[in-house]
Amino acid sequence: MLTHYKVKTPFYFVDFDILAKRYSYLKQAFSRTAGETLIAYSYKTNYLPSICDFLSRLGSLSEVVSGLEMKIAKRLGIPGSKMIFNGPVKTEAEIREASRLRLMLVNLDSFNELKILERNRINGQKINLGVRLSFAPTDHRDESRFGFSVDDGSALKVCRRVARTRGFKLRALHFHLGSVTTELSRFTEAIEQSIGLMRDIEDYAGTKIEYLDVGGGFALETTPPLLQETHYPTLDAYAQTIGRAIAKSARIHGVEVPILIVEPGRALVGPAVQLVSRIISCKQKRNARYLVVDAGTNLVPSCTYLRHQIRLVGREGLRRMYCVTGPLCMESDVLSPAAALPRVKEGDIIAIEDVGAYSITFSSQFMRPRPAAFGLVDGKLVCLAREEIEEDIIRRMSFRRMKATSAH
Ligand SMILES: Cc1ncc(COP(=O)(O)O)c(C=O)c1O
Repeated sequence: MLTHYKVKTPFYFVDFDILAKRYSYLKQAFSRTAGETLIAYSYKTNYLPSICDFLSRLGSLSEVVSGLEMKIAKRLGIPGSKMIFNGPVKTEAEIREASRLRLMLVNLDSFNELKILERNRINGQKINLGVRLSFAPTDHRDESRFGFSVDDGSALKVCRRVARTRGFKLRALHFHLGSVTTELSRFTEAIEQSIGLMRDIEDYAGTKIEYLDVGGGFALETTPPLLQETHYPTLDAYAQTIGRAIAKSARIHGVEVPILIVEPGRALVGPAVQLVSRIISCKQKRNARYLVVDAGTNLVPSCTYLRHQIRLVGREGLRRMYCVTGPLCMESDVLSPAAALPRVKEGDIIAIEDVGAYSITFSSQFMRPRPAAFGLVDGKLVCLAREEIEEDIIRRMSFRRMKATSAH
């Protein structure tokens, strides 16, 4: 199908049917076990406006972590009441904008941020706040650098301060355990501690917390780690663990079951994008068959640590192993050390699968401008982001000549 379109390679291809299916699968999996669940799409995973818009039309909230992402949401006409603002740095201007837009939640990350918020309160208006939590690790890990520690009491301290400040409304507790969190017990423990904290806040300030936002971090089963065998939980297993832990902890601590918010990125948008690339040369060396293609790991950084399937577009046949490499002048530019493909030739088109997460937003202009992104609408390929041109890169740099003085 993709070979029928005369488009310059490489390019990203977004499949909105897959995106819709992933969204409803996630929504149903969590709603089945946790009751009312709000999905807040993590913009930084892939902030192509058409993707963000599509998901919000399906009912998703927008989880943003910068002024840039807030601006994209605003341009799409998404109201503040459907935006959650996270992240370790929120500038004064971003916080001013967040309170002007009356966001659904601003999740606090530090005491300094709280001070900025205090300065930017608007008379007669409440700022809806959440508090990001971190937990003392029960294994070899370090405690997360984000948010407020539950263990050392700073989480309770900040919640008390928010609860007694005029102009603030404490509505949520939030955590994100990290991208690709495979140990389900970490969710159970974090939920237990968060709901315990809800009890303390209710006792201290009479404030009932409406939302528990458990972040994202759900693994994508089709992209296992490159180097080790790891068992990934299914989406249903994440949903069941989280739903059950909330119900149990709420019962133990005698609090009302909070509304669950999840902030998926990778598991939602990952499968919906492919990177389409052309084989530039085929090389047989003593130890392997190499393919050099026109897309590098700078366009899919996760190829260096996850196994992405690679498919030959338009032809089937008996498969053999190829090492698929990119165009970068770096030995490490390997998209797959062992891709099973039918016999290929120069000029053939391949698709690197499941590249929707942290590819477009993580891509760099190393050696060449970044490629376009397309989607299919009524059988027609439509442009979602134009390709960069060399001039885009050159224009922002100064060509000022420095005086060439030699060192003595
Ligand atoms: C606060 C927060 N929420 C959600 C996500 C999305 O994570 P993932 O793509 O692993 O689902 C991230 C990613 O780092 C994050 O930092």
